[in-house]
Amino acid sequence: MDSILVTGNGPLNGQIPIAGAKNACLTLMPATLLSEEPLTLTNAPRLSDIRTMTALLQSLGAEVTSLQGGKVLAMSSHDLNNHKADYEIVRKMRASILVLGPMLARDGHAVVSLPGGCAIGARPVDLHLKALEALGAELELKEGYVHAKAPGGLKGGTFEFPIVSVGATENALMAATLAKGTTVLKNAAREPEIVDLAQCLRRMGAQIDGEGTSTITIQGVDRLGGATHPVVTDRIELGTYMLAPAFCGGRVELLGGKRSLVEAFCQKLEQAGIAIEETEAGLAVSRAAGTRVQAVDVTTEPFPGFPTDLQAQMMALLCTAEGTSVLEEKIFENRFMHAPELIRMGANIDVHGGHATVHGVDRLKGAPVMATDLRASVSLILAGLAAEGETVVSRVYHLDRGYERVEEKLSACGAKIERVAST
Ligand code: UD1
Repeated sequence: MDSILVTGNGPLNGQIPIAGAKNACLTLMPATLLSEEPLTLTNAPRLSDIRTMTALLQSLGAEVTSLQGGKVLAMSSHDLNNHKADYEIVRKMRASILVLGPMLARDGHAVVSLPGGCAIGARPVDLHLKALEALGAELELKEGYVHAKAPGGLKGGTFEFPIVSVGATENALMAATLAKGTTVLKNAAREPEIVDLAQCLRRMGAQIDGEGTSTITIQGVDRLGGATHPVVTDRIELGTYMLAPAFCGGRVELLGGKRSLVEAFCQKLEQAGIAIEETEAGLAVSRAAGTRVQAVDVTTEPFPGFPTDLQAQMMALLCTAEGTSVLEEKIFENRFMHAPELIRMGANIDVHGGHATVHGVDRLKGAPVMATDLRASVSLILAGLAAEGETVVSRVYHLDRGYERVEEKLSACGAKIERVAST
């Protein structure tokens, strides 16, 4: 398994292009199952999770062609010759459950393995299933698989999510586009990835109102057509690289970055003493020489709140802040696995249940550390960039699921970072 070697050094200066959003692309790809006509996604990120979704769609009979080095995905699912999403693929990635709603809506039956995914808590799929039941799906759980049927097709219905779920909102939204009649989804997720999905589905002919608010109304149509759709900018990649100059000092411009995608995160960074400026090409972030990051308290929440997917990176930053910060994780119960690794680098962190108290120290020291999930892995790389000496982050396959060309993007700004192939 490869590892990443990072050597702490001085300020970073330069530009980093931000890719299309992994999480948006992973829900836009299954949307191809809703139509017999081609769906083409542009601005796709080049990541192992996208290759996993490609393999899953191909296993169902869809054609997926990767063009322009993976930046364009041309998909078509004229005939679906298999309606079973197998455990061997689904276990690699939780987002695989997103093929359930579209297959069921189009052909009235589907069998999908219960997913695995990042080890950040229990992550059940009960809300996906309840929302589909509200549309008339008949579900049975057998031997680790969800067997779903909708004899006569799905029917519009009203469903109120008891807690906000991005994936369950996406599954229900896709399924409802082909259900007979009107569907109302209440307490729906408002993430930019949901808005992007709704825009793509509308391009395919769906009738949707209210995306980006907590009530989404869908008027079912008989069929959807083809479309070409650009994947929205990855707000988590954006936030992650915005932190690079916050850690190391200097000024980095994030090309394609938009403040509206990361407003809550920007406010916390500014409170911590980091300057953010909107430029013609995106966002520029800087920390002046000689200044120190200030402690801030952070609570993760569904959009538009502070994203859980930036919590690990923010915690790593606050390890060397002046003062004590409290981070509260409200989305996933077990998402502080990066804390023991940061402690190995000299951080002073106490974790109690869903709270982590970070007492700022002057500087972290390089150490061998282990990536425990996708966002944790990048938090350790960022910490290593500002630490004294060398940090080796192992198990970087997590990183490759969600960040394309990390070494290239950071070293272009002056970071000392390299991939070490396993022997
Ligand atoms: C998506 C993102 C992930 C992000 C998360 C929260 C993708 C591919 N992944 O994950 O990066 O961290 O949103 O912003 O888009 N829950 C249930 N039952 C369900 C579904 C969810 O109890 O059926 C719970 C989860 O355990 C969690 C909370 O709801 O506590 C939110 O999860 P959800 O928004 O569904 O996350 P994902 O869609 O899996």
